[in-house]
Amino acid sequence: MTRLTLSHLLLPFLGGTTAGYTTLSDDTLRHISSPLSASSPSELDPFDGSLLSPILIPRVPGTPGHAAVQAHFINYIKSNLSPEWTIEWHNSTSKTPATGEKLVPFQNLIIRRDPPGMTREREGEMERLTLAAHYDSLYRPEGFIGAVDSAVPCAVLLWVLKELDGAMGKRWGEWEDDGLERGKGVQVVLFDGEEAWVQWSGEDSLYGSSSRLDTISLFVLLDLLGAADPTVPSFFGKTHWAYQNMAKVEERLRGLKLLESEPKAGRFLHDSERSNWNFAGYVEDDHVPFLRRGVEDILHIIPTPFPRVWHTMDDDVKNLDVATVKDWAKIVAGFVGEWMDLEGHFEGVVPGTEDEKGRYFVKDEL
Ligand SMILES: *[C@@H]1O[C@H](CO)[C@@H](O)[C@H](O)[C@H]1NC(C)=O
Ligand SMILES: [Zn+2]
Repeated sequence: MTRLTLSHLLLPFLGGTTAGYTTLSDDTLRHISSPLSASSPSELDPFDGSLLSPILIPRVPGTPGHAAVQAHFINYIKSNLSPEWTIEWHNSTSKTPATGEKLVPFQNLIIRRDPPGMTREREGEMERLTLAAHYDSLYRPEGFIGAVDSAVPCAVLLWVLKELDGAMGKRWGEWEDDGLERGKGVQVVLFDGEEAWVQWSGEDSLYGSSSRLDTISLFVLLDLLGAADPTVPSFFGKTHWAYQNMAKVEERLRGLKLLESEPKAGRFLHDSERSNWNFAGYVEDDHVPFLRRGVEDILHIIPTPFPRVWHTMDDDVKNLDVATVKDWAKIVAGFVGEWMDLEGHFEGVVPGTEDEKGRYFVKDEL
């Protein structure tokens, strides 16, 4: 009886879905953070990381740099993720204030993995954790890179997919589709055209049909990440529980000495204790069109105040903090791993040992 009451009480905190949320063990957190895991943190090195560094060029829609980054994404996905991932482009054209009458092409990229057996017709039986960032860069100032805005968030999301891909395969290999549990899928949405023009007409928009919007269980938007000392508040009472879960992952990773950054505030997600939601302030961003269309469960991971380099030529490689970039990747991977109930499904998790600095390492991994 108590159990029943408790689960009813908990339901609102689970975003109104029947989904669970499973904490990852210390060993799994260590595994995710290890250089020997599926995604190595070194892929996120701004200078020579195979994932991040090719994105750190100007990416204005319709230019060669933009096309090169798209090709890099596709190449990365095809060479690192299993074939169960679908790649979908949502292309449109639009006039922009910057280009007058000229039509500029915009291409949103969606990388999605649904539980096995989920066809378009059965979409109502599932939900998708939706992770988003924008990949285009500002038109002016000329040569603007947009390292935190949002090359790093895009790289972090792709890193997370590679990191968790194997565990998702194992989990779904064992999943019994009894029609009772809603299947959990995951998708990464890389937005285009955010900087030039955010326009959402019914026809061109990312999700033509509202059923696709209905499948979004939580919309996590990453923006302006990668500079040192970010302080990210919790913006929405409705998703504060999810914010707290991510903050808990950060706290545990720090406690296990698996993070490298030393932020002045002691942590990135500093707002866990908050309980007052009387103010209605939020930062305008890519999530607003979703909010207007009824996607209410939004977790906006954006530092406030914005990084000093925001929308200036200084938003480039040299002003990224490598440790902060890598730490964001580990935090997001931990959060997504918990959301997707991946504990126990990682290959190669072994109890590790600590070196003299208290840092974790694995002797015989792989
Ligand atoms: C959409 O844009 C992508 C990226 O430029 C391109 O590869 C793809 O062929 C386009 N799809 C359609 C249907 O035009
Ligand atoms: Zn911007």
